[in-house]
Amino acid sequence: MPENLLKGKKGIITGALDENSIAWKTALKAKEQGAKFVLTNAPIAMRMGAINELAKECDTIVIPADATSVEDLEKLYDEAKEYLGGNFDFLLHSIGMSPNIRKGRAYGDLNYDWAMKSYDVSAISFHKMMQVAEKKDLMNEWGSIVGLSYIASQRVFPFYTDMADAKALLESIARGFGYRFGKSKKVRVNTISQSPTVTTAGSGIGGFDAFYNFADSVSPLGNASAEACAEYIVSLFSDFTRMVTMQNLYHDGGYSSTGISEEIMEKFSDK
Ligand code: NAI
Repeated sequence: MPENLLKGKKGIITGALDENSIAWKTALKAKEQGAKFVLTNAPIAMRMGAINELAKECDTIVIPADATSVEDLEKLYDEAKEYLGGNFDFLLHSIGMSPNIRKGRAYGDLNYDWAMKSYDVSAISFHKMMQVAEKKDLMNEWGSIVGLSYIASQRVFPFYTDMADAKALLESIARGFGYRFGKSKKVRVNTISQSPTVTTAGSGIGGFDAFYNFADSVSPLGNASAEACAEYIVSLFSDFTRMVTMQNLYHDGGYSSTGISEEIMEKFSDK
C-alpha cells in the first residue's frame, strides 16, 4: 500500500452517515494517508451520533451543515478553515437523497416539490459547495473536488427515477465548474460513477438486491466496494491525478463497458 499520499493536504468530507457510507470509508483512508480534514453532515443525520465516533477515530471535528443552505456552507467553510489553519486541497461531495424514492413514487407520478428537493440535495448542493468555495477563495492551487454519481445518469434504470436526472445534473455541474476552477486555480473537478454499493442511500432504492447482483454478474471484476471507492477518491485527491478534470470516471469493475457476461448468458440460455 502506498503511504502518505495525502500528507499535508486539508479538506472537507461530507456524507458520512454510518460505517457503510462511502464517505466514512474515505475519511478512514484519507486519515491513513496523512490528510487533515473536517467532517460534515446534515444536522438531522447528526442525531444518530455515529459520525462523532468517526471524528474521534480521525482525530477531527464535525461541523453540521445542510448542503442545500448557502448560509450553512459559508459557516462550515469559515469554521473549517480556522480549525484546519488554512485553505482546502480537497472537497468530497458524497450526498444523495430523493423523497420520491423514499416514498415509492414512480417516474410517471413524481411529486414535483420532492423532485426539486432531490435535485437540490443531490446535485445543486455540489454547485453550492463550489460556488461558496470559489467566492471565498478557499481552494488551494492544484486542489481536487469529487462528487459521486451512478450510471443511471446515462442509461435507464427505471427504479432510479428522479435520482437519474439528479445525477445527470451533478455530472454536468462537475464539467461546468471544472472549467471555471481549472482556469482560475488549477483545481480539478470530477465525478466517480460507482457500482451499486450496500449503504443507506443505495439500499433504499427499490429492487436494490436485484440490480446489485445483476451488476456483479455483468462486471468482469465484480462490483466495486465502498472501500475500493474510498481508495479511488484518495487517488483523485493525491498529486498523482493532477491533470484529470471534468470527467465522469467509472469505478464499476468494468460494468459500463460490458455488453453481456457468460454468467448472464447462462441464466438466459434455453438449454
Ligand atoms: P449514505 O446514505 O451513507 O450517504 C448519503 C449521505 O447524504 C448521508 O450521510 C446523508 O446524511 C447525506 N445527506 C442527505 N441530505 C443531506 C443534506 N441536505 N445536506 C448534507 N448531507 C446530506 O449513502 P452512500 O451510498 O455512501 O452515498 C454517497 C453518495 O454515493 C451519494 O451521492 C450516492 O448517490 C452515491 N452513490 C451511491 C451508490 C450506492 O449504490 N450506494 C452508487 C453510486 C453512487
